[in-house]
Amino acid sequence: SAAEKGGYDSFMEKEINEQPKAVEDTLLGRTDAQGRLTLDELRISPEQLKETSKIIVLACGTAAYAGTVAKYAIEHWTRIPVEVELAHEFRYRDPIIDQTTLVVSISQSGETMDTLMAVRYAKEQGARTLSICNTNGSTIPRESDAVLYLHAGPEIAVASTKAFLAMITASYLLGLYLAQLRGQLFSGQISDILADLHKIPAKIQTILDGAEPIKALARDMAQTPSVLFLGRHVGFPVAMEGALKLKELAYIHAEGFAAGELKHGPIALIEEGQPVFVVVPSPRGRDSLHSKVVSNIQEVRARGAKTITVAEQGDAAVTEYSENVFFVPETQPLLMPLLTTVPLQIFACALATEKGYDVDQPRNLAKSVTVE
Ligand code: G6P
Repeated sequence: SAAEKGGYDSFMEKEINEQPKAVEDTLLGRTDAQGRLTLDELRISPEQLKETSKIIVLACGTAAYAGTVAKYAIEHWTRIPVEVELAHEFRYRDPIIDQTTLVVSISQSGETMDTLMAVRYAKEQGARTLSICNTNGSTIPRESDAVLYLHAGPEIAVASTKAFLAMITASYLLGLYLAQLRGQLFSGQISDILADLHKIPAKIQTILDGAEPIKALARDMAQTPSVLFLGRHVGFPVAMEGALKLKELAYIHAEGFAAGELKHGPIALIEEGQPVFVVVPSPRGRDSLHSKVVSNIQEVRARGAKTITVAEQGDAAVTEYSENVFFVPETQPLLMPLLTTVPLQIFACALATEKGYDVDQPRNLAKSVTVE
């Protein structure tokens, strides 16, 4: 009913708009009296977790893209090697696991059969398992050694939005927790990152408040047959998620690419009028990453692409090469996915709505896939 949708036309819109609160609730109550980070439920001792030699993140769909963001952050903060794998591929390749392997599953529902079976397999092989999950008491967290609940509230729309941002937030918390255990970051560094995380909800709200131009572009582009998404570093999984949302909701052919890979193949797809979204890294970030992505924008534009960029507020370099720019507020480069994802969600939702599709119940998809 309209009341359940809180005045929005769809659960998806409602959930997109609940994202400031979802991130805030994921961050809530995570520190003890000494200001140290804690996990919800631990059946592994902190000493055992400290010994972790390798992390394998297992997930499907949108959750797997949250896993890729997790990889970049956790490796950077803890120096523990992290692999990310689609849960349904994991069991069939003879993965290398032992007691010092921490298998981190990410699942909104906690019931995805592919993910559950992969977690069970990892346990049988002796790995320690940690579940990042939104659904209290669901099967995957019940069967795992440790749990970090998202507390994002129920997600009704089939395509995941607020749970995705909450998964990324929880992954940052896990990375900081492990860094704290291993003494890898100073407590001051951890509290600085936490302080920046606490500023994210208000920044998401700014993007939501300025959503109208994104929706207008989506309405204009309703007849587009294909859209490409480019990103690099943590912008890469964001690009993949942007493409997935368009496929899921608007049934448009959409592909995400790592921007550096463009010259190795995908650039052949560019022809006159091809829309290309580019998730631009912070100009304050690492080395020459920003300028490399700006070059990618120029390269596709020179071949006729219609370039649409998502960039940090104040990034003057992109404006000149973009048909449309959507700015997001500044934050630490690693935290940017919590902001850059939001315009892409709004775009997909508005475009599918313009085409008359039911964004809450896309064809052929289920909210939780409980078969293998
Ligand atoms: C289904 C949904 C996706 C979701 C995936 C994983 O395929 O349609 O939106 O990302 O399952 O779900 P989970 O509950 O494990 O996060």
